[in-house]
Amino acid sequence: MRIGWAFTGAGHLLKESVDEFVKLAKDNSVTVFMSNASIEVLKMYGLYETVVKYTGGRYKELATDENQKFSFPITGRLSLGKYDVLVVSPATANTVAKIVYGISDTIVTNAVAQAGKGKVPTIIVPVDITPGDIDTVLPSKLELSKCKKCDPCTAALACPHDAFIPYKEISLLNCVGCGQCKVACQYDAISEGKVIQMHMRDIDIKNTKKLKDIDEIDVVKHPSEIIPFIENNIQK
Ligand SMILES: Cc1cc2nc3c(=O)[nH]c(=O)nc-3n(C[C@H](O)[C@H](O)[C@H](O)COP(=O)(O)O)c2cc1C
Repeated sequence: MRIGWAFTGAGHLLKESVDEFVKLAKDNSVTVFMSNASIEVLKMYGLYETVVKYTGGRYKELATDENQKFSFPITGRLSLGKYDVLVVSPATANTVAKIVYGISDTIVTNAVAQAGKGKVPTIIVPVDITPGDIDTVLPSKLELSKCKKCDPCTAALACPHDAFIPYKEISLLNCVGCGQCKVACQYDAISEGKVIQMHMRDIDIKNTKKLKDIDEIDVVKHPSEIIPFIENNIQK
């Protein structure tokens, strides 16, 4: 199959999305669309390289806001119906809001708009779907309560990307989630995958509901539902 997979800058359901992406990319031509925020967030969670590994070659490109500039020429393929399906997983509140109001000013929102014009079925996994509080996972974090302010800081010395600011924080824009700081810190002051509670805003839940009314878009709750949905509903 020829598939488009769009990543946005959501940490929630990101690992689960990458796992499903990898399963599909092993046996199909998958073009990856990455919003600017998704590039940063995939790196923070140490998942960027995993995705990039499956790109390269025709219909397996890595399309970004940077390499597709302002008019996103690659999404023309979607408007010409060249793909069997477009997946957006995970979809941030920001991207969902833009889609429901017809805005298409990022590589991902533009891909969705063009898929609609080309009658390419689109499956979206919005992160803001269940009202109330949800559990979500953080990228690497310095737990100040455990930091013993060692001099020198072994975690900072171990970081190959200058992301570790001793006794203060991890600069997430430099972090690639390699985990070397965690290995180096003898006081276990770095957490990876810490679970926190996040409140879902009413406006984001309402926008997710509006997604379901858009032609050609199907909403599923979890990335694990994507492959069964494709198998049951998308014609090859
Ligand atoms: C570590 C991290 C995790 C994030 N997780 C989420 C998330 O789960 N859901 C969300 O809507 N935004 C999340 N964001 C914020 C988005 O990345 C931000 O709104 C971004 O502008 C979205 O752009 P995009 O929709 O074009 O990808 C997160 C940001 C960071 C730094």
